[in-house]
Amino acid sequence: MTKVTAQMSVSLDGYYAGPEHNGDSWMESAEAAGFFRITRWVIDAMAWRERLGFAGGQHDTNSRLIAETFAAAGAYVMGRRMADGGEVPWGEEPPFRAPVFVVTNRPRATLVRAGGTSFTYVTGGVASAVEQARAAADGKNVAVAGGGKLLRQVLAAGLLDELEIHVAPVVLGAGMRLLDGGLGLADREAIELTPTRVVHTPQVTHIRYAVSGRAALRLDDRGSGTGQPG
Ligand SMILES: NC(=O)c1ccc[n+]([C@@H]2O[C@H](COP(=O)([O-])OP(=O)(O)OC[C@H]3O[C@@H](n4cnc5c(N)ncnc54)[C@H](OP(=O)(O)O)[C@@H]3O)[C@@H](O)[C@H]2O)c1
Repeated sequence: MTKVTAQMSVSLDGYYAGPEHNGDSWMESAEAAGFFRITRWVIDAMAWRERLGFAGGQHDTNSRLIAETFAAAGAYVMGRRMADGGEVPWGEEPPFRAPVFVVTNRPRATLVRAGGTSFTYVTGGVASAVEQARAAADGKNVAVAGGGKLLRQVLAAGLLDELEIHVAPVVLGAGMRLLDGGLGLADREAIELTPTRVVHTPQVTHIRYAVSGRAALRLDDRGSGTGQPG
């Protein structure tokens, strides 16, 4: 059965990229420098390098997890900034080998690439992009591939079944924070998750969560010693 999953690498202090670059080419900026450090484990992995036609790479646990994620995904949803940033480096044969639905306010004709990847630009919003990806995924997962502005909306809208966070052992101090006020949670409201897998490697810690959904926060009396554990 199709699950909507998301994968995102973050620094220990919760950033998914360096400080946002306001201009055309963020790939040359401090935003990218933070992103490159956080996702170094991906670039070093053989499974990612093979998909880009690069030689070498580590054949290790990180590589195995990347291969697993690629194999499980039948379609992708992506934000316009990430898709724009990847357009040149991913080249004529991007690594996805599946339909990619790009959420944007900028209409554009579908881009068909070699190897099974296509980029369809969706102007009808996040839910529409997820639905189109679900229809295209042929029973496999819909993977929300970033960036953070998109992922926050998918999570806030209750569309996400599974979140996999890859925590890189680095503190950036500043940057684009994944889980912030942009989630639009109400006063005394939270999103509850259940950890289902933790895989530790020296380069990164992979934490997979099932997303339970929004829940009310309440003041309880556990701290008084008289309250009952839940
Ligand atoms: N750490 C990681 O694992 C990871 C993974 C992926 C990306 N990244 C980083 O993330 C950064 C890019 O992500 P980002 O968060 O800035 O942007 P993003 O989520 O990739 O894209 C945001 C853009 O998508 C469009 N969009 C988003 N929601 C929309 C909606 N509801 N309706 C219509 N259009 C919508 C808007 O573009 P328009 O209005 O202009 O169309 C918006 O500016 C890069 O620095 C990249 O390196 C990190």
